[in-house]
Amino acid sequence: PRTIVSGVKPTGSLTLGNYLGALRRFVDLQHDARCVFPVVDLHGLTVPHDPERLRRLTVETATLYLAAGLDAASCVIFRQSDLSLHTELAYLLECTAYVGELDRMIQFKEKGRGRPKTRVSLYTYPVLMAADILAYRATHVPVGDDQRQHLELTRDLALRFNRAYGEVFVVPEMIPAVIGARIKDLRNPLAKMSKDAPDDAAGCVRLLDSPDVIRHKVMRAVTDSRHEVRYDPENQPGVANLLDILAACVGESDPAALATRYSSYGALKRDVADAVISLLAPLRARYADLAAAPEYVDAVLRDGAERARALAEPTVAAAKRAIGL
Ligand code: TYM
Repeated sequence: PRTIVSGVKPTGSLTLGNYLGALRRFVDLQHDARCVFPVVDLHGLTVPHDPERLRRLTVETATLYLAAGLDAASCVIFRQSDLSLHTELAYLLECTAYVGELDRMIQFKEKGRGRPKTRVSLYTYPVLMAADILAYRATHVPVGDDQRQHLELTRDLALRFNRAYGEVFVVPEMIPAVIGARIKDLRNPLAKMSKDAPDDAAGCVRLLDSPDVIRHKVMRAVTDSRHEVRYDPENQPGVANLLDILAACVGESDPAALATRYSSYGALKRDVADAVISLLAPLRARYADLAAAPEYVDAVLRDGAERARALAEPTVAAAKRAIGL
């Protein structure tokens, strides 16, 4: 049977990129497979953090899972830190991973290498991510493009462990997003839109932004001085990003085809703003209802943790036995 695992790190309020690259696809996949969707709060400890904010964002992220349309009865939604199995397995995988392969991780090179206050956990983070996935014998992992290398590592670790100690893990496949795999920052279309941007970052559309704020951010998106709407990510990254967003919102697979409908950046931006606002409207409404019922979200997380434990325990036990413990 297919098992899908994917997590979101609660280090900031979720963005349109998280929705298009991940969350929306979780919703589409949830009835085709067993689905396990942790809020991976332990990963939020890899960078300077504020304990209260992390706790708040963990609940906000879980609430957004539900607001986006995940069904708590069919999906296993839980807080990663409610289980010690992830960190337990991560250690066994650290004993499988090589320093050389972690040294090659692009995210670490960009965010931490060579800086005096980089936490050790940022370096080992991809191994914990591998544990998140392998503990559930995931067959498929829907993630945005920025996680591709981490998923490759996960596959390598599973294969290596299995070869050395016996077939314990399933080797998972990435499910890449067809469109919306890498949404860029509206103010800097060379960088990905990241929830870790400052809370008030103008280039970052948050799922909980009001329609006015979304419109304002989209209308101020950086374009270029060519005054020509063409889908050319290389030379017109800002315009291409707007077309990608529009395509992803309206379910069009070819952003270049959309480009032909526009002769001005203003008209394109207006349609992007409208499309994003209407895409997110139902989510916003459901979020407001759920936020008024925190005890419900709490119950979902508690129940999810029990179900997650039942799924992960046999795998972690098998891994311990196989490795000689
Ligand atoms: P995170 O929390 O940074 O992002 C959550 C998901 O959103 C996707 N994403 C994007 N997709 C398109 N455009 C963007 N601009 C964009 N920004 C983020 C990410 O690819 C991801 O799918 N290491 C992971 C969390 C993780 C995980 C896991 C994922 C931990 N354990 C196990 C899958 C399975 C991360 O930092 O994602």
